[in-house]
Amino acid sequence: MDYLVQSGGRLRGRLRVPGDKSISHRSVILGALAQGVTEIVDLLEGADVLATIAAFRAMGVTITGPEAGHLQIQGVGLHGLQAPRVPIDCGNSGTAMRLLLGLLAGQPFASELTGDASLQRRPMGRVVGPLEAMGASIQTQDGKAPLRIEGRPLQGISYAMPIASAQVKSALLLAGLYATGETCVQEPAPTRDHSERMLAGFGYPLRRIGNQVCIRPGGSLQGQRIQVPGDISSAAFFLLGATIAPNSDLTLENVGINPTRTGVIEILTRMGARIDLMHLRVVGGEPVADLRVRSAPLRGIEIPARLVPLAIDEFPVIFLAAACAEGQTRVQGAEELRVKESDRIAVMAEGLGNLGINVKETTDGAIIQGGVLQGGRVDSHGDHRIAMTFAMAALRAQGPIRINDCANVVTSFPGFPPLAKQAGLALEVLDQ
Ligand code: S3P
Repeated sequence: MDYLVQSGGRLRGRLRVPGDKSISHRSVILGALAQGVTEIVDLLEGADVLATIAAFRAMGVTITGPEAGHLQIQGVGLHGLQAPRVPIDCGNSGTAMRLLLGLLAGQPFASELTGDASLQRRPMGRVVGPLEAMGASIQTQDGKAPLRIEGRPLQGISYAMPIASAQVKSALLLAGLYATGETCVQEPAPTRDHSERMLAGFGYPLRRIGNQVCIRPGGSLQGQRIQVPGDISSAAFFLLGATIAPNSDLTLENVGINPTRTGVIEILTRMGARIDLMHLRVVGGEPVADLRVRSAPLRGIEIPARLVPLAIDEFPVIFLAAACAEGQTRVQGAEELRVKESDRIAVMAEGLGNLGINVKETTDGAIIQGGVLQGGRVDSHGDHRIAMTFAMAALRAQGPIRINDCANVVTSFPGFPPLAKQAGLALEVLDQ
């Protein structure tokens, strides 16, 4: 499936982006492990989250929905999961695979995790290594999926993560629910803390001191009502689109602004974007706001390395911001981008290059020279965030942009084409 986007236009009005992907996954996982019923509203009904729901159904959990963002889970308690009869297919979702791996390592049964071609290329050793140190038995294909898990008694460890990864942290905390003694994880830089917030919200005790979080077995989770905020990672496409398209004025309602996720707002604001946070409130333990964004000229900057983990999924958008900015932008310390759904440094450099922008790749980032975007063809390499970023690029391009392989947009943002059209993007979906 391709997108064809005519050039020009502006973004205006008020809209709501779908629920946060990270929070949606975690609400399904913890709801399944809780005692009693968990009700989730505004759940992201993206393919990634549907894979997590299917995984728990395969392990004997009764789940009703999702329907119009509503999901009901009859929790089975921490020790109520059943052995899945077939391999669990995580599709395109790294979060599903890594978090489930942590959970399954300490279950009293064997299981298998698999995924699509992109997911089978992604590194799993970062989770397998510390889990093995806890006593897990996991067979990989050279550090990658498919993964075969034996299910073993685990012992708690203290683990200093060499990379800043919320997925690794979350996987180890889930394993720690089943390990003897205490499991502690230290992170080299702050990463999204939805797991910690949600475990606490379900009534499970955690210890958080500085850059370390620790968990012990023996507690229990109590079913909850969870309202999922809008996903700032999905809002990011519109934040940039409205910034680069003249005469835009767009309000994105009910967006999660957890400080471990707002790097994109800080980076775009430093580049000159005009983003106002309005009506700040806390919903279900997560801060939320309405974001108003108006057109503004951008300038190139050096992106501070400390902001990289806080904007890790928004770099396709940030690369496009840099292409539309006056002067040069430098991204450093972002080697993790090479192991996302695609190699996002290489794929953004290729795509922007096709549109006439000068991008110099480095091992851990890029140097992007702002310029004039031409129309042309871009290969998304099956990466949802690359596809949506280049759709927004058309707002500033000299001619139409055709983006191929856009089917995976449904992993994180089902309904992107109609919502983008409603806001003012001249997007057409081509079915080949
Ligand atoms: C996520 C963590 C990040 C992010 C991913 C979602 C999560 O991955 O890129 O889209 O929900 O924990 P890493 O932990 O690999 O940085």
